[in-house]
Amino acid sequence: MFGKITVVDKKFPGNGETFIYVAFEDTFKKDNDLKLLGKKINNKLLQHEFSGKEGELVSIDVDTLYKTVIVVGAGKEKEFNLIKWRDLLADTFRYCRANKLANVTVTYFDLLGKDSFAIGQNLTVSLYLANYDFDFYKSEEAKKKLKRIDSLNFQFFPLRSSDSSGQAVSRGIEYGKLLAEGIYLTRDLVNQPAAYVHPDTLEEQALQIAKESKGKITVEVLDENQCRKLGMEAYLGVAQGSEQPPKFIILHYESSKGRSPSGRKICLIGKSVTFDSGGLSLKPSEHMETMKMDMAGGATVLGIFKILSRHNVDADVYGILPACENMPSGHAMKPGDIVTALNGKSIEVLNTDAEGRLTLADALSYAEKYLQPDMMIDLATLTGACIVALGKNIAGMFGNDQKMLDSLEKAANTEGEELWPMPLHKYYAKSLKSPVADLKNTGGGKYSGGAITAALFLSDFVDKAKWIHLDIAGPAFNDNDSYGVINHGGTGWGVLTLLNFFHQVNKK
Ligand code: BES
Ligand code: ZN
Ligand code: ZN
Repeated sequence: MFGKITVVDKKFPGNGETFIYVAFEDTFKKDNDLKLLGKKINNKLLQHEFSGKEGELVSIDVDTLYKTVIVVGAGKEKEFNLIKWRDLLADTFRYCRANKLANVTVTYFDLLGKDSFAIGQNLTVSLYLANYDFDFYKSEEAKKKLKRIDSLNFQFFPLRSSDSSGQAVSRGIEYGKLLAEGIYLTRDLVNQPAAYVHPDTLEEQALQIAKESKGKITVEVLDENQCRKLGMEAYLGVAQGSEQPPKFIILHYESSKGRSPSGRKICLIGKSVTFDSGGLSLKPSEHMETMKMDMAGGATVLGIFKILSRHNVDADVYGILPACENMPSGHAMKPGDIVTALNGKSIEVLNTDAEGRLTLADALSYAEKYLQPDMMIDLATLTGACIVALGKNIAGMFGNDQKMLDSLEKAANTEGEELWPMPLHKYYAKSLKSPVADLKNTGGGKYSGGAITAALFLSDFVDKAKWIHLDIAGPAFNDNDSYGVINHGGTGWGVLTLLNFFHQVNKK
């Protein structure tokens, strides 16, 4: 983890380096800003025709308490929110890194009555995520060039009377650090090549998390034979073409108040295909380039478990990673093969590249049969079709319980992770009918609503639990430039939303 954050008060004399000031479009020219920044800087801003529009950034070299003053536009004050602030700051922190400005001061005037805890949390998430690099494979020389922000002084002006908002900010900062730690793990696992991340690697990681939790988290791992005995042919069918042995990993965190006093059992299931070549239905080269990321769902579940035991969650939480690799070989599953999942349903496998749903079919069935959770949430880089529908930034959300869907949507909105409700349109289920088995693993052709048919397929393996399926094929991995708290590569999408969701469950 990188970057030290210190909360300082108005008497803070300045650290001589970089001062970051966020200015609103409609108010920055008023007296307040003038007084604070001084005439000289204001004149410079006017020269630069700075207007305070969202995303504007002016860097001014001065020789006062600071060497550099960076003024960032935040748009209209009315439209301000902490997620916008978080993302603007992250872009500014990246600007600082590029310009070797390693020590920064950020101010915040508590004028708008935002939640102090959330201010601390978002500030911290912003700094740590903007400071993230995947540099394991860079030379020492190149590593040194990747400048990070070493220290951040947060000058917080609590303007509301009689509150302990300063303390709440500090608690928010601690919580933000925890979140970032989880997201770092998820990002690292996604970014590591498939030559390094095998089902074994995910098992080791899960065991490590259990060890660190000092008994609060336990892990059970089923090997191929055990899975065969339980009847997980769908999952094992995907694994059988690979040299890498499959590992069906089950984590269990017991409620901070003892065994599920509230009767709440939540099961998270993460697609964990450590490499998706497509199998015999081999992917074209361009589509295969990023397929080390096909275990992002599992990596997200591990990121969450890494921090869960240090965070008071009042629910029993299970995590399932049906980890395997999807490869073509003489042992591989062939199009036309029929496999039977743990819940007894037979599946005609017409396309071995629609493998995620096969692994999840057994994971969902396992959860229903052996864990009987009240709620299940699966995270899966499931379909290219979901990216066609919603683009790269937005996850598709499907589910069978409106209240649960509403809660998760609220959690995502609060944390600034984009998702959008998608329909489990029954009519399309027709396309999953097989003449020779109970189901087939692909539906229709080009215009068949591929993200929806995939979700409908999963719903066949859900029985009693309330269930949400998140198709994170788009937002789990960013192959473009960084923006806001999103960097290149694995993003860690979902850690923030799910922890927020647990909070909401706690409150009820
Ligand atoms: N892992 C892919 C989905 C994917 C695509 C994730 C792009 C991230 C980026 C999945 O296993 C897959 O190959 N799905 C197929 C399904 C099809 C064969 C029915 C797809 O989306 O093309
Ligand atoms: Zn695939
Ligand atoms: Zn896949």
